[in-house]
Amino acid sequence: MKMATFGLSSIKRLIQKSIWNFFWDNFQLPQVDLDELCLTNTQEYPLITEQICMPPYAGDASLKDFSFLILLVKKRNPAIVLELGTGYGTTVANICTVCDAKVYTVNALAENLAEHTEGSRITYMLTKDEIGYVYRKNGYADRVVQIFESTRNINILDWIEPKSVEFAIIDACHDAEFVVNDFLKILPSLSDDAIVLFHDTNPSLKGHFVDSYIGCMYLRKLGYNVKYLKESSWGILLSENSTYRFSTLLKVKNAVHTVIGILLFRNRDKFIQIIRWLASGFMQGKLDHMETV
Ligand SMILES: C[S@@+](CC[C@H](N)C(=O)[O-])C[C@H]1O[C@@H](n2cnc3c(N)ncnc32)[C@H](O)[C@@H]1O
Repeated sequence: MKMATFGLSSIKRLIQKSIWNFFWDNFQLPQVDLDELCLTNTQEYPLITEQICMPPYAGDASLKDFSFLILLVKKRNPAIVLELGTGYGTTVANICTVCDAKVYTVNALAENLAEHTEGSRITYMLTKDEIGYVYRKNGYADRVVQIFESTRNINILDWIEPKSVEFAIIDACHDAEFVVNDFLKILPSLSDDAIVLFHDTNPSLKGHFVDSYIGCMYLRKLGYNVKYLKESSWGILLSENSTYRFSTLLKVKNAVHTVIGILLFRNRDKFIQIIRWLASGFMQGKLDHMETV
């Protein structure tokens, strides 16, 4: 009996390890730097810092999220921006300061973010008055469409024309399956030359960085060419280059990996959650500060 139990748990461990190793070995994010995006970090920021929740002003001070965001917005000079996760609206306020874009921004009301149904990595639970407070205070309300919906359920084309968004920021719930959901939800609204940024994505996988990084890896598994912007916690995807080719062998192996995952774990969200959980187990000891779930 003991032998049978030992055998079963070894097999389970072997399957888990194979699922994780295939995922980790094939879908880590390639890294790009500012040079490759034809950008130079010359200017001094910040502009509006009230309630800012972005490095280096909040979180890891060695990361340059805020200045890279502003550089990218200025370079792209978008007519339409879409942000998932408004928070207090500091990023929207800064975008409105550096370009003339119309901004659509989505944030669920606190009462709609009941923790267990709406993910666990939620930075703020805000009231209607708190959401977007900073961009309103700075006089940008007339350029912003505030959408009070959960990204889980949103049909973005109810709000925005297809293929019209030129710059998008995914910064709502950071659970890995939400990051995947959020990108797929906004996909029909993206223009052919859009830039998409995924916040809290960093290959150190330290603390809260693990979730969005695993979500972006899953998007690579689906064929989307998400990369990591060095010295920041941004994942980045350029629509003009949004997919990449798998070798035939990788295509077949990836299909088998997906079928096994979905069969064992019922659906895509559960499969992503399991991969997130496997990350904690199998990366333990290899990375500093790795969290367990
Ligand atoms: C990190 S904050 C956004 C910060 C903002 N982008 C900025 O830079 O100022 C994330 C926001 O997403 C919201 N949020 C979390 N889960 C969400 C969901 N499923 N749908 C919509 N909003 C969500 C939270 O209420 C929170 O205000």
